[in-house]
Amino acid sequence: MSNISVNFKNSNIDSKEIMVYSEEVEKIHAMIDKKANSKAELLGWLNWPSKYAKREFEKIKKCAKRIQENSDVLVVIGIGGSYLGTRAVIEALTNSFYNLQSKEDRKFPQILYVGNNLNPTYIKDMIELIQDKDISINVISKSGTTTEPAIAFRIFRNLLEDKYGIKEAQKRIYVTTDKEKGALRQLADEEDYETFVIPNNIGGRYSVLTPVGLLPIAVAGIDIDKIMEGARFAQEKYADSSLKYNDCYKYAVARNILYKQEKNIEILATYNPKMHYFIEWWKQLFGESEGKELKGIFPAGVEFTTDLHSLGQYIQEGKRCMFETVLYIEKEEEDIKINFEDDSLDGLNYLADKNLSYINKKAMQGTINAHVKGGVPNIVIKMEKLDEDSIGHLIYFFEKACAMSALLLGVNPFNQPGVEKYKSNMFRLLEKPGF
Ligand code: PA5
Repeated sequence: MSNISVNFKNSNIDSKEIMVYSEEVEKIHAMIDKKANSKAELLGWLNWPSKYAKREFEKIKKCAKRIQENSDVLVVIGIGGSYLGTRAVIEALTNSFYNLQSKEDRKFPQILYVGNNLNPTYIKDMIELIQDKDISINVISKSGTTTEPAIAFRIFRNLLEDKYGIKEAQKRIYVTTDKEKGALRQLADEEDYETFVIPNNIGGRYSVLTPVGLLPIAVAGIDIDKIMEGARFAQEKYADSSLKYNDCYKYAVARNILYKQEKNIEILATYNPKMHYFIEWWKQLFGESEGKELKGIFPAGVEFTTDLHSLGQYIQEGKRCMFETVLYIEKEEEDIKINFEDDSLDGLNYLADKNLSYINKKAMQGTINAHVKGGVPNIVIKMEKLDEDSIGHLIYFFEKACAMSALLLGVNPFNQPGVEKYKSNMFRLLEKPGF
């Protein structure tokens, strides 16, 4: 099992400062642990890796196989927690150009995402791209009433019905939603679509390890058993109530200490473009969990070295309001050696025989040193490699750290009352009945 470690040496925080929080952390730990199996609390994700329904899991695999066999494209319809984790895992664990690979190289269906915006050009362009291919749809919405995916589903359901006829379309539509509630559940029951249940006690942004994420992830040929093994390993590893032995809680405490030092922004940095959507998932997890009651660290993301040529200047010399957490993947899957050239017109012979992964690592070390010297405290989360079990582990690590961090801050990690504000304005402007 690949491990994850957290290094606070450049965080500007003394380990004694962290330990001051021991009692508070133990109290919160005991409180969430006690409620973990309650149907009424949104804490179902806590023991999920060891408790998930194995029968549902087999159904996921069976449906994934069917989609792989009869489809060129799987259209994933969802927004926020109903698609970000899925996309994060698929992009982290497949070829960097998965959707652009030939069918033979890719082996599994293309995965495309819709229902995460209201832009007509995006939808038109997607329809144009896929209309001649064989398509399946996985529509995901816990509430079953979210406008963006509901509109996309209507459009793509119509597309499938026109293309295949109602009966065949029915077999190509997979619905992931609440067991009983919501318009999507009603529609799925009436149309007899294959359905997957999102557990009541797991909220959207904590749901990637449920059918929400696992069906499309399995369709992309990723081993979902291994993902769950990694998550299960993390569940055991971070079950320790003692702050001293729990890196996940230490990270949560460190964030709170830095926040008290007016570090109001956390930038999560990666040196691997495959982690772009993982950062998007992390931004939603922390942003929606903590940003309320006029509190919370603003979660931002950067991809280095790309963003060293855009946001790097601000990070180095702009307002000192941030800290940086680097997601460091120790071992690259692939490497490239730099050649020696007799004339060295590009001046690169000093790098001859060096691997690109080595150069990337030096860029990371140089950047961390520069940022720390410039007043940006740094935390490093190191993964041995990027694979199924480490992604499962990392997801669980952040989910638990996020809950602890929000509770230390004194806010509810599992609601998102602010999200309703734009909706009611939009509905009023659209003259939706009742608004
Ligand atoms: O974390 C959350 O609960 C939200 O981000 C939801 O996932 C998002 O709003 C989508 O909601 P739904 O799955 O109900 O369509």
